[in-house]
Amino acid sequence: KRVAVFISGRGSNLGALIAASAAQDCPYRIVAVLSDNPEAGGLALAARENIETFAIPRSGFGSRSAHEAAVLDALSSIEPDIICLAGYMRLLSAEFVGQWKGRILNIHPSLLPNLPGLETHKRALSLGMRIHGCTVHFVNEGMDDGPIIGQAAVVVRPDDDENALAARVLKAEHRLYPEMLRLAATDRIRMSSGGETIFDDAS
Ligand code: GRF
Repeated sequence: KRVAVFISGRGSNLGALIAASAAQDCPYRIVAVLSDNPEAGGLALAARENIETFAIPRSGFGSRSAHEAAVLDALSSIEPDIICLAGYMRLLSAEFVGQWKGRILNIHPSLLPNLPGLETHKRALSLGMRIHGCTVHFVNEGMDDGPIIGQAAVVVRPDDDENALAARVLKAEHRLYPEMLRLAATDRIRMSSGGETIFDDAS
């Protein structure tokens, strides 16, 4: 399967997806990386791997829909089967998501539906949560809101600070995302029209 990855920053999850794609039996290939931030570290990483890159800054466009039109235009030349959001800091419109229904995945650094949005590690600590983690889910028009595909739990330690906790969750993200993408790329999961994740063990 052809995969396009959307990023805005350092791209460590992108790196994990690329690394896992080197396995001989890997059912997906990262064919392009798009970023709304031309300075994103992940773009340089992709270029080093000879993956096609697209920097499409929001500031170059008058409106959100004009920006999305440019992103869709890039996608029509890439023809991916699946889009993976990996630290992409923009909310996709309902129109965009509708066109790619069930074919967009996202990774989020909390156990959804707990803690959608930003600063999840800081919030987990200040709420006194003892279990934290990360989630891969299908993307709908809400923020960090679509049907859950898989999660990894991370135990919060009594002496954790935000950085230490973030680092352990990030490690879990790097394991979880390639595994979940593999399920999507082999059609073992899909999103139902009612917005649920269907797990298909038969194939
Ligand atoms: C990750 O924590 C991801 O879960 C969140 O944004 C961060 C991106 O990090 N959506 P990176 O760019 O993949 O290193």
